[in-house]
Amino acid sequence: MDVMAAAARIEAQGRRVVHMEVGQPAAPAPATAIAAAQAALAGGRIGYTETLGIASLRARIARHYSETYDLALDPARVVVTTGSSGGFVLAFLALFEPGERVALANPGYPPYRHILSALGCEPVLIETTAETRWALSAKALLAAHAQKPLAGVVIASPANPTGTMMEADAFSRLISVAEAEGIRVISDEIYHGLDYAFVAETAANISERALVINSFSKYFCMTGWRVGWMVVPDGLVRAVERLQGNLAISVPLLSQVAAQAAFDSRAEMEAVKHGYEANRRILLDGLPKAGLDRFLPVDGAFYLYADISRFSGDSLDFAKRMLEEAGVAATPGIDFDPVNGHNFLRFCYAGSAAEMREAVERIGDWLKRR
Ligand SMILES: Cc1ncc(COP(=O)(O)O)c(C=O)c1O
Repeated sequence: MDVMAAAARIEAQGRRVVHMEVGQPAAPAPATAIAAAQAALAGGRIGYTETLGIASLRARIARHYSETYDLALDPARVVVTTGSSGGFVLAFLALFEPGERVALANPGYPPYRHILSALGCEPVLIETTAETRWALSAKALLAAHAQKPLAGVVIASPANPTGTMMEADAFSRLISVAEAEGIRVISDEIYHGLDYAFVAETAANISERALVINSFSKYFCMTGWRVGWMVVPDGLVRAVERLQGNLAISVPLLSQVAAQAAFDSRAEMEAVKHGYEANRRILLDGLPKAGLDRFLPVDGAFYLYADISRFSGDSLDFAKRMLEEAGVAATPGIDFDPVNGHNFLRFCYAGSAAEMREAVERIGDWLKRR
């Protein structure tokens, strides 16, 4: 937020900033989603919906699992949520009691630990390293469980902020090992569809006990519509329904209608994804030449996590200077990693190819001048 505020100040002075700090697509919602929302608005009343979501959207999401993962999913297990953010609150409330320990990868997406803490649970950060592709390993999970029992684990592949993915066997091993120990698995699949190195598998294909969380925010470019979904184990659907009924009544109807229609814009979304792939290529080629040559595997999502320890051990200061002196905004790793985040910067490459080229050039000139 400090970097964003500083960027706004610089722009107010009439100077240009290349924005790579915010983790959201630059593209608008799919055309079919916008048209469906407009038709629904023109059609009259926007009321509450069924708590678990409108039946046609739940069925369409279930069909998405058969089309994408070859999984026959009962629509009764699909719950529509207010973005994946709403899903985390429901999932944690349904699965955990105050005081219980839930494992998270470090670095990781900060709201996991903040929501858990707010609910009185204990987030347990597990360090990741290059050895495990910067993902949680079954071994590290078991070690943390042996210290003091864990009630759950949150996994994400592709992950934020690292942009790394777990290989298929590591992913399924982690889920199997966790479940054998009675550790509940929550799989954040929000960046599915945005995979460049290899295809991401859904936890729903590995276990019926895993709770899957997904969203229309990233692949479908619908961050502001606040709509996502969960795939919930059979026995938990009623608990989740009662929680959502009390906490939110239902997800906004307009967003649900738009989300259902978003599935009809596959070609448009694939074109957006190809844009990210081109951006990724520009950064993979350009950043090392510019001087930033150490980063984690750039597998998926739209993030590149760069090690800047060669230049600075204070990522916030480095990000502020890069913004001030080079006009490129990126997010300091301290937002995502309280241990080693001072050595990293996260670049989001969801902008345009021209912006990526400009960023590479500006960073290169700046690092030479320093
Ligand atoms: C890993 C991860 N999960 C969840 C979210 C929340 O997204 P939303 O609530 O828009 O679905 C984000 C947003 O950046 C994210 O990066």
